Amino acid sequence: MSNLNHIVLMVNGVQHERDVEPRLLLSDFLRHDLGLTGTHVGCEHGVCGACTILFDGQAMRSCLIFAVQADGHQVTTVENLGTPEKMHPLQDAFQEKHALQCGYCTPGFLMALVPFLEKNPDPSEEEIREAISGNLCRCTGYQNIIEAVKLAAEKMAVR
Ligand code: FES
Ligand code: FES
Repeated sequence: MSNLNHIVLMVNGVQHERDVEPRLLLSDFLRHDLGLTGTHVGCEHGVCGACTILFDGQAMRSCLIFAVQADGHQVTTVENLGTPEKMHPLQDAFQEKHALQCGYCTPGFLMALVPFLEKNPDPSEEEIREAISGNLCRCTGYQNIIEAVKLAAEKMAVR
């Protein structure tokens, strides 16, 4: 007997229809079924933030969502943020301030920060620290990430 669920969802503005097992995580669906490997998987239990995506515009951890729960919803991944030719100001700022080393955590930071800066375009350092408190980085020591967020806010203010 088939135990598949039919889902229809929008990912980065494109509609996808698939039959998925109820236990399939959204993070695995994005990476393995859709080939969107920019969403990284670290802990797979909601701790590291590497898998953060936008779910109906809100930053969420895709390892804590089943693909079936995304039926009828809008998902945005880091692939939708910018292109190598035209990066998002956050991506530019991360590059300029050396806010990444191995880069494994970076997609999660970026996707957590996009809605944060939309809601709070001129954040204090304390607010930035709070905003990234759910994302782990094992390389940078966070200071350069904080500097990058400040720079991104400046860049976005003059756009
Ligand atoms: S992989 Fe989802 S929070 Fe770590
Ligand atoms: S840059 Fe390596 S884990 Fe953050």
